[in-house]
Amino acid sequence: MRKTVVAGNWKMNKTPAQTTELINELKPLVAGSENKCIVCVPYTNLANALEAVRGTEIEVGAQNMYFEESGAYTGEIAPNMLTEMGVKYVIIGHSERRQYFNETDETVNKKVLKAFEHDLIPIICVGESLEQREQGITFELVALQTKIALLGLTADQVKKCIIAYEPIWAIGTGKTATSEQAQEVCAKIRETVASVYGNDAAEEIIIQYGGSVNAGNSAELFAKSDIDGGLVGGASLKANDFSVIVNS
Ligand code: 13P
Repeated sequence: MRKTVVAGNWKMNKTPAQTTELINELKPLVAGSENKCIVCVPYTNLANALEAVRGTEIEVGAQNMYFEESGAYTGEIAPNMLTEMGVKYVIIGHSERRQYFNETDETVNKKVLKAFEHDLIPIICVGESLEQREQGITFELVALQTKIALLGLTADQVKKCIIAYEPIWAIGTGKTATSEQAQEVCAKIRETVASVYGNDAAEEIIIQYGGSVNAGNSAELFAKSDIDGGLVGGASLKANDFSVIVNS
C-alpha cells in the first residue's frame, strides 16, 4: 500500500520569519496524520523551516538544486549544501523552472542523478501545456518526460522517487484537472515506469497530482487509484487549507 504524500511548493513566497510562523500554525493541524507532509520552501527559509519542524513528522524540501558538486556557478545551490542542513527532498524540473529558467529534460535528468548521489529524494515534475493537450500528445509527452528524467537510475532508486504530474494549464489558474483526467495521466506514468523498471518499481513509486489542488478537491483526487497525493502551490500558503489537503 503506497502512502499518501502531500508536498507544499511555496514557490517564491514567505520570508524566514513568516516561514516559522506558518509552520508553527500548521504543526498542530497535521499532527498525527497518516499521510506524509512535506514543505518545500525557498532556500533562504530552509534553516527556519528545519528548526520549526523539529520533533514533528513534517519534512522539508528545497525547490531546486544544481547538478554539480561545487564550483564557479554563481547563484546556484549544491546538493551537499542541502543535505548538511537536513533537507531530505528536492523538487526538480518544475514547469516554472522549465519555462522561465531554461530547464530541459536533460538538466532534469542530471539533477535527478545528482540528487541520488546525495540521498536526496527528488520530486520530479512533468506535465503538458494546454496546446499540447489540445494536440492530443499528453500521454506521449508525459511518458517521454518521465523516461528521460529517470534515465540511468536503478529500479531501486526509481522506487524512491516522487513524480508530480502537473498539467501546466492547471497551475495557479484555479482550473483543476478533473479527477478522471489526472488519474488517466498518472496511470500512464505508472505504466511507463513499469515498462522500463518493472512492476515492483511501478507499484512503489509515489505519483502526485499538482495544479489548483485545494481543500475542496483534494479528497476526490487522492481517492483515485494512481494518485498518491499532491504537489500544492497556492493552497499550501494557508495552514488551514493545507492541513485539510494533508489530511485528505
Ligand atoms: P497551484 O496549486 O497554485 O496551482 O500550483 C501548483 C504547483 O505548481 C505546485 O508545484
